[in-house]
Amino acid sequence: MQNNITFENYKKDLSKHKTELLVCGLFEGEKVNSEIDELFHNALSKAIKIESFKGKYKKKITVYGDSLKRVVVIGLGKKNETSNLKFREIGAMISNYANQLSVKHISVESKSLHLNDNEFSKSLLEGIVLGNYEFLVYKTVDSKSHSLSKVTVVGECDKKNQTAAIAVSNSVNYARDLGNHPANILTPTYLANESKRISKAKNMKCTIFDVSKFEKMGLGSFYGVARGAKEPAKMIIVEYNGGSKNEKPIALVGKGLTFDTGGISLKPGARMDEMKFDMCGSATVMGVMNAVSILQPKINIVFAIGSTENMPGSDAQRPGDIVTAYNGKTIEVLNTDAEGRLVLADVLSYVDKNYTPKFMIDFATLTGAVLVALGHRATGLMGNDEKLISEIKKSSYATDEKVWELPLWPEYSKDIKGKYADIQNLGKAGAGTITAGAFLKEFVGDTPWCHLDIAGTAWGPKEPGYQPKVGATGVAVRLIYNLIQNRVG
Ligand code: BES
Ligand code: MN
Ligand code: ZN
Repeated sequence: MQNNITFENYKKDLSKHKTELLVCGLFEGEKVNSEIDELFHNALSKAIKIESFKGKYKKKITVYGDSLKRVVVIGLGKKNETSNLKFREIGAMISNYANQLSVKHISVESKSLHLNDNEFSKSLLEGIVLGNYEFLVYKTVDSKSHSLSKVTVVGECDKKNQTAAIAVSNSVNYARDLGNHPANILTPTYLANESKRISKAKNMKCTIFDVSKFEKMGLGSFYGVARGAKEPAKMIIVEYNGGSKNEKPIALVGKGLTFDTGGISLKPGARMDEMKFDMCGSATVMGVMNAVSILQPKINIVFAIGSTENMPGSDAQRPGDIVTAYNGKTIEVLNTDAEGRLVLADVLSYVDKNYTPKFMIDFATLTGAVLVALGHRATGLMGNDEKLISEIKKSSYATDEKVWELPLWPEYSKDIKGKYADIQNLGKAGAGTITAGAFLKEFVGDTPWCHLDIAGTAWGPKEPGYQPKVGATGVAVRLIYNLIQNRVG
């Protein structure tokens, strides 16, 4: 993985500590720590006075020393207006500043940055890791990789909280990496191999189903999409058993289209390159899988990914074809570019039938229409269960990963009734994001289920500051890990 930072803790005398950059925080109206000021021969208080530094949010002041080479005091703003979002942004500002100075090792001072306050420390550490991300794998010239590689937390910091924050944000970066690799490298086989690698961890078991088995298994809808591609499609199932034996699992399902040309209903050329990101739903699932493999929460989870290319090969399915999904429903394929729902139909019903999960959540770059509705700022949320919807909203507030609910009223299901088959893969009356959701609903039975349409949020957003400037965002990894933590308690 890219730009990995090693974290360590230091609880001894600050005067004996060596670092290239010591980072402190200051809320408006607070006084700078006199012990630290003395270590810099009161240069800090002098600088603060001369520059009339007041601790305004994101303002900073730097002075120089000896074994502590530099100290930067960062304004945290008004104490009563602070938030996790602000701390996460400060975290990203810290790693950006370190890289700007070409510094390898920084130390963050716990007391002034409130690192023993669980919520804020989590956000600040997340921000440091997330803000340090850049995808440079394929740059051979003009590339300067990030310098920051070690962070020392000076003083008290809740260890459990620290470990979780680092593992989860590294997993976000991992999901970003998966999203950013091009489709000639990141194939369904690549995702399958990565799942196998992660599953070597305790309590995990990985099963890969190859496209050659799909028809026999009854995955007719998924097979219809896969048959146009030379690159073999895979259904990936990872079972994680961290909870008690007879407890039902929760299920996380991802759309893993490693490239979506549209198939025979070919997409226009402009920006088609972005369709390498059509596997970002599976990247979210794998990001959570990675965090779970490290943190081993006490819960059972099924991770499931449907991965293929959508290609117009000579054996590709045609508009008008009728396929039979795993749950027996027949589907008229009116547009081969509405392929994500066809893949998810089979994976959702396979997971539902074989695992009877407590609930299922799927992640998919499913519709361009969600960009019309919500732009890059929020993920579209739909589902059949109020309780699960509100649980997701709660985690959304806690992690600042915005979701917005769209209705799945029964009327919308009328818009996907088929002419020659049970249903069709195209809506009849607008509401493209919702009719896609209504389509998926046909394949989840009575299981509580939610669908996150991440087509607007999986790549592109450049705000807040801890998002990368280009490429995949690793959306919803933090959100879902928060939901898991809330479940585990
Ligand atoms: N992967 C696309 C959705 C998409 C499009 C995501 C643009 C991000 C940006 C999906 O498979 C697709 O092509 N959906 C069609 C559905 C339509 C044919 C009903 C779409 O949104 O145009
Ligand atoms: Mn498509
Ligand atoms: Zn697609």
